[in-house]
Amino acid sequence: MSAPETTISEMPFSLEDSNDESVFLSKVAGRALRIAVLGLGHVGLPTALGFAEMGWEVLGADNDLAKVLRLTSGDPGFYEAGVEELLRKHLQTGLFKPVEDLGAAIRSASIVFICVGTPQHENGEADLSQVESVARTIAQNLNGYKLIVEKSTVPAVTAKWIQRTIHRYASGGNGKSSSGSHAVAFDVASNPEFLQEGSAVDNVFHPDRVVCGVESERASRILTAMYGPLQRPIITTDLNTAELTKHASNSFLAMKISFINMVADICEAIGADVTKVAQGIGMDPRIGSAFFQAGIGFGGYCLPKDLRAFIHLADSYGVDFSLLKEIEAINQRRVEVLIKKVRQALWVLRDKVIGVLGLAFKPGTDDIREAPSLRVIRALLDEGARLQLYDPKAMPNVQRILPAEEGRIRYCQTPYEAARAAQALLVLTEWNEFRDLDLHRIRELMEVPVIVDGRNVFAPEQVHRAGFEYLSVGR
Ligand SMILES: NC(=O)c1ccc[n+]([C@@H]2O[C@H](COP(=O)([O-])OP(=O)(O)OC[C@H]3O[C@@H](n4cnc5c(N)ncnc54)[C@H](O)[C@@H]3O)[C@@H](O)[C@H]2O)c1
Repeated sequence: MSAPETTISEMPFSLEDSNDESVFLSKVAGRALRIAVLGLGHVGLPTALGFAEMGWEVLGADNDLAKVLRLTSGDPGFYEAGVEELLRKHLQTGLFKPVEDLGAAIRSASIVFICVGTPQHENGEADLSQVESVARTIAQNLNGYKLIVEKSTVPAVTAKWIQRTIHRYASGGNGKSSSGSHAVAFDVASNPEFLQEGSAVDNVFHPDRVVCGVESERASRILTAMYGPLQRPIITTDLNTAELTKHASNSFLAMKISFINMVADICEAIGADVTKVAQGIGMDPRIGSAFFQAGIGFGGYCLPKDLRAFIHLADSYGVDFSLLKEIEAINQRRVEVLIKKVRQALWVLRDKVIGVLGLAFKPGTDDIREAPSLRVIRALLDEGARLQLYDPKAMPNVQRILPAEEGRIRYCQTPYEAARAAQALLVLTEWNEFRDLDLHRIRELMEVPVIVDGRNVFAPEQVHRAGFEYLSVGR
């Protein structure tokens, strides 16, 4: 496999121009500068394509050559509505170019977005090695004023570290600071991304707000000019505040989910309906109705790891934020709550055939990172159950980590196939297509008519009418 032929023309203006703030700003207004987006994953790719759609010339750089080759052929490599269409469109217009050579992309761009991954260490702390690595590459390719925008989710003070790293390595890695007479000016800004997988493209064009953490007027003006056309509220802050806003936001969302899940347990205990309680609470504008669906807990690449990183950050500054730890503990227990329901319906699970509908961590994506479904599946396999799995998009990703195994795991082409001869059918992701299933047909196919609905996809009356024993969450 070799790198695709990349021809990146020179910067569209001279270096002297790039250091002149008014010239730079007029180029921003006319979209006459190039943007480099480093990291072309679930955030980087929609971001890059969003800027291309807004008329910018975007170089998307990723150090994964296979990914760059896939993108060059028009394949995003993951499922996200609208991304493939935008990718094909802007490969055609030439406004988006995937490249493997980060240095070349940085040198020829004036605004550089960092969108690499920030996974977690064992102790929950954010692993910032990808961010550090690209900061060094930026330093080594700083050939004129650039605005460096951190979009990855990072703990407070990361932007300061990016600044420090660029200063340290900008001299070519000889350890001497570049702040002397040959220093090249740059700004670092924090512009945390709030998009949600499943609606990423829409979120890129219609963000609820744009948070811009800056330290200079110039950075603020550039970001305001870039995001202005979206006509969404822009909140300008200092760097630490912007970074903290993202962690606090995700932790609050996680708290809403854990809160409603505990309310669900109380509803089950006393015979109330959590969906109505959630409706009643959520209509209060001080609270809001989003993220109030009781279920098997939150997963994905953001909420669990960002919550843990926030816990770690609070601990490391000696702040006792024990609420965050409880949010996580509640979330961890949700899978056991579901497994108990399966046992309640089937008693012994050994050799029971169980159909599973939904593997992705949420609908609208094929992402299975920290998907609660995987923990459910592993728990059922540990108890000796035989599983028939179905998901509209995520099966190939699950197959890679849990290959089909005779008598233990079978992947099915339809939800009906997953239900065939099963003694229970579990719903673990609320894909819309499950809401429209023919329950009478499913009833006919199953050996024992039991549905354990971990996402409250069905209305209880509807399922009972079709002849099922039905266990859902908090009602
Ligand atoms: N996924 C989401 O819904 C979401 C939402 C908001 C914010 N975020 C945050 O955005 C960041 C990116 O998340 P993601 O889901 O896009 O991750 P991802 O794993 O899908 O993508 C990261 C990309 O960075 C590339 N990369 C890694 N090291 C690199 C390097 N040194 N140079 C160039 N490319 C490199 C990887 O190959 C990969 O393509 C994370 O900090 C995440 O927490 C994610």
